[in-house]
Amino acid sequence: MSETLSVWLALREAADTAARSATLTRVIADALPRDRPVRILDLGTGTGSNVRYLSRRLPIPQDWLLVDRDPALLAEVPARMTDCHIETRRMELGRLDDSEIFSGRHLVTASALLDLVSQRWLRALAERCRDRGAAALFALTYNGRSRCSPEEPEDGAILELFNRHQRTSDKGFGVAAGPGAVDAAAACFAAVGYHVRREPSDWILPADGKPLQRLLIEGWAEASLEIRPAEASMIQRWMSRRLEHVDAGRSRIVVCHEDLAAWLPSTQAEKLLC
Ligand SMILES: C[S@@+](CC[C@H](N)C(=O)[O-])C[C@H]1O[C@@H](n2cnc3c(N)ncnc32)[C@H](O)[C@@H]1O
Repeated sequence: MSETLSVWLALREAADTAARSATLTRVIADALPRDRPVRILDLGTGTGSNVRYLSRRLPIPQDWLLVDRDPALLAEVPARMTDCHIETRRMELGRLDDSEIFSGRHLVTASALLDLVSQRWLRALAERCRDRGAAALFALTYNGRSRCSPEEPEDGAILELFNRHQRTSDKGFGVAAGPGAVDAAAACFAAVGYHVRREPSDWILPADGKPLQRLLIEGWAEASLEIRPAEASMIQRWMSRRLEHVDAGRSRIVVCHEDLAAWLPSTQAEKLLC
């Protein structure tokens, strides 16, 4: 599992970097202190893509706590980065019952995580952030939309099956919010007093990005098959045609995501962090 996930995370990192909202990153950078090390918690770190992106864009020095349940992925995070102190911790985040990880954090962040978590988990997350006065930045949450070119007649049916899979799976956080995760997160953070801002962070995958497109299509087919095994032959035919487009260098895919930034009015944040 780790190895497959590690390959997937490595393949997607360039697309993630290109897609993320520079505007929201700046909004959050401006909400962070400049007179002391910035203390940051990254949830569901994987191999550290979010840290690599943010460390160059946030005020320095930085003190990071990186948390994931998979020690093999965490072992791939570079032990040192300029002006960053990095600690990794293996932890099951499904119940979010260890509030110590939030202690003294100015920023709580995650990338490509929120679509995996439940509404209940998002409520608990917003409360944990609010209790500590932390700002929040959640990047690259899938929002249920994608477009493939050239089109195939079954594209819509596969998208629907995949989205149903996203809405019904449980990765240890309760039933996933899936494509509704950004709406749910925005509501949860607003409900506990945060300003919330959202921006699109769509992947625009060109024809020469063959390995990533291939894994994406195979993943969509696998999830669709889990939801509707009786449609195996339709799904298989669809996958074969889509992969032919990839191999022929004529496939373009857009996968829609959103970034979300949330921050407290500055006086409230200061009071809570002191
Ligand atoms: C899609 S990956 C994103 C990784 C990384 N943030 C990135 O953008 O490359 C989701 C990560 O969440 C972690 N994860 C999934 N369920 C988890 C759980 N219940 N507790 C802790 N980590 C979990 C996985 O191990 C994986 O590293």
